[in-house]
Amino acid sequence: MSDVIAYGGDWNPEQWPEETWEQDVALMREAGVNRVSVGIFSWSLLEPAEGVFDFDWFDRVMDLLAANGILANLSTPTASPPPWFGDAYPEALPVDADGRRLHHGSRQGFCPSSPIYREKALRIAEQVATRYRDHPALAMWHVHNEYGCHNARCYCDTSAAAFRSWLRAHYSSLEALNEAWGTAFWSQRYGDWAQILPPRATPSFTNPGQQLDFRRFSSDALVELYVAERDLLKKLTPDVPATTNLMAGAHWDMDCWAFAAELDVVSTDHYLVGARPEPHIDLAFAADYARSLAGGRPWLLMEHSTSAVNWQPRNLAKRPGELRRNSLQHLARGADGIMFFQWRASRAGAEKWHSAMVPHAGTSTKIFREVVALGAELAGLADVVGSTVRADVAILLDHSSVWAQDHPAQPTADLDPVEEAKRWHAALWRAGLTCDLAHPEGDLTGYRLLLVPALYLVSDSGAANVEEFARRGGVVLVGPYSGIVDEHDRVRLGGYPGAWRDLLGVSVEEFFPLEGPIALDSGAKGGVWSELARTTGAKVLDTYATGEPAWTRNEFGEGAAHYLTTRLEDDALAEVVAAVCAEAGVEPVAEAVPGVEVVRRSHADGRSFLFAINHTGEDAVVRPPGGAPVTVAAGDVRIIH
Ligand code: GAL
Ligand code: ZN
Repeated sequence: MSDVIAYGGDWNPEQWPEETWEQDVALMREAGVNRVSVGIFSWSLLEPAEGVFDFDWFDRVMDLLAANGILANLSTPTASPPPWFGDAYPEALPVDADGRRLHHGSRQGFCPSSPIYREKALRIAEQVATRYRDHPALAMWHVHNEYGCHNARCYCDTSAAAFRSWLRAHYSSLEALNEAWGTAFWSQRYGDWAQILPPRATPSFTNPGQQLDFRRFSSDALVELYVAERDLLKKLTPDVPATTNLMAGAHWDMDCWAFAAELDVVSTDHYLVGARPEPHIDLAFAADYARSLAGGRPWLLMEHSTSAVNWQPRNLAKRPGELRRNSLQHLARGADGIMFFQWRASRAGAEKWHSAMVPHAGTSTKIFREVVALGAELAGLADVVGSTVRADVAILLDHSSVWAQDHPAQPTADLDPVEEAKRWHAALWRAGLTCDLAHPEGDLTGYRLLLVPALYLVSDSGAANVEEFARRGGVVLVGPYSGIVDEHDRVRLGGYPGAWRDLLGVSVEEFFPLEGPIALDSGAKGGVWSELARTTGAKVLDTYATGEPAWTRNEFGEGAAHYLTTRLEDDALAEVVAAVCAEAGVEPVAEAVPGVEVVRRSHADGRSFLFAINHTGEDAVVRPPGGAPVTVAAGDVRIIH
C-alpha cells in the first residue's frame, strides 16, 4: 500500500467554515497524519441540485492536502444521496419488510436495486473521478461507505423484480426452485416466477429457503453496486487501488468474503462494544477476520474511535492508553494503516457525541495528546509495513450459514453462531494463539487445526473440503449444530450431522436443547444443547451422566476429528481447545499470560516484530522462546524487533 503506516481519519471539512481547514491540516501535520478519507458525505454539496455540480470548494480541500503532503482516500459520496434525490425519485427510497417506505433525512436512503440510484451514483462518481484522477493527493478510492450498514435489504417492487432475476440466474427452472425451497410444505408451490416475493411480513414464519436466498441476493446486490463503481473508477485510474470499508465481525448482512474478492485492498471499520466484558478480544476477532479476508496480506483499518462512540446505550469513553492499545492491536494483527472516524468532532448532526482525533474541547486534551503520540510512534514503526501474521489454526465462518440459522424456527434460540465463533476465538486468544477465519470452501492447506464452532449450513464441497483437511493429517474440532443442512437449508438426512457423520464417526438421532447447565463425567460443564448421539467408530472422551457421548474423537485418514455434542462453558471449552492444539502441534508465539496478547508479524526475509500488549492493570512478563523475558507494564505495549 505504501512505505509508511497510513495514519489519519475521515476528514469532513464541509462541516466547518473554511478558516478551520488550514488549522486542520497544520494540526494533522503535528499529529503525524499522512492519510485522510475525504468526500464520504459530500454528495449534497458537490451536487447541490440534480445535475448541478460544485467542485470548487473540494478542489481547495484536495489542494490543501497535496500542499501539506497528506494523501487522500478519495471517496465516491454515494452512501448518502441528497434530499433532492428522495424528493425527485421516491420510488428509489428503501422499503422495509412491512412495506414502509423510508424517507430521506438520514443516510443510505436508497434501494440497492434501484436503476435510478445506480445511474445517479455512477454519475457523481464519474464526476469525482474525472476531476481528481491526476490529483497528487489521490492515493486510494474509498468507494461508498459501509455498504448495507442501514439499507442491506430492501423489499420494494424493484427489489422484488431484481430478486426474481437473481433466482432465475441461480435455478435452472421454477421446479428446481420449488424443490430447493421445499415449497410443498404449507402449500407454497410457485406456478409462476412472478408470484415470488421478497420475504415480506407474513402471518407466520416465511419459507427458510426464500429468506436465505433473499439474504444472498441482497448481499450480491451491494457487491454489484461496488463493482459498478469500481469498474468505472478503474477505467479512469487503472493504477489507483480501490476499496470500501467493510464492517468485518460486526455486521453480518454483507458477505464479506464476496466483497473482499473484489477489493484491491481490504479495509474495515471496528468499534468496541462496551457491553462486551473483554472488548479487546472482540477487536482481535475483527482484526483476524480482516486479515483473513485479505488472504493474509496487510489490510487497512479505515475507522475506529479515539474514545466513545454515539450509538450504544452507554457510550464508554476510552481510558488513558486504550486508544494506543487498540491501535497497536490492529497493527499487530496485520493492519498497515490505522485510521479513525473522524478527524474533528462534529458540532452538529447525529454524530456530534462521537469522539474524534480533535475533540470538542480542542487540542489541550487527553485525546489529542494521545493522537499526537500515536502518530509519532507509528512513524517510527514503518518497518512493520508489508509484514504478515501466520496462523496454524482457522475457524470456519460462512455468512450463508449465519443467515440460514437466523431463521427464527430453530431447536433453540440460545445457540448464536456468531457468538459461538467469537467464543471459540476467545478460547484461542486466551491460550495465546492467533487464528485466521476461513471460508468452508476456501484454501485450508496451510493450517494444522480447524475449528468448526457452529456451521449449521455447509455445501457439499465445503463438507468435502473439511474431510479432505482431516484426511491429509489435519485435526478438526466440530461443535454442535454444525453440518446439519445443505446449501438450501434442507436437512441432511440419515442421522445428524449429515455432512460429517463419516468424518466424526458419530451419528445423532435427536437434539435435546437445554434450559440449564449439564454436567459431564469429567466435571466439565455444558449448557444450551445436548444430543442423543451414538458412535460409529469414534472414541468417547467425555460423557453425560446417562453415559451418552459428549466429546468424541475419530481417526480419519492421516488426521482426526473431534466432536462436541454440547455447548461447553468457557473453562471446559478451553480444555478441549488445549487438547486439540496439543494434538495438532499448535503453539503460541510465547507462553500465554492472562490478559496479555502476544502476536508476531514477520517479513519474508526473517525480520519480525513481536507485539506484546498488556490489557491488564498489573505489570506482566512475557517470555518469547529463545529471547530474554520482557516486562510489559500495566496497560502498555512493547514491540520487540
Ligand atoms: C461508521 C460509519 C461512520 C460513522 C461511524 C460512527 O459506521 O462509517 O460514518 O458513522 O460509524 O461510529
Ligand atoms: Zn428496493
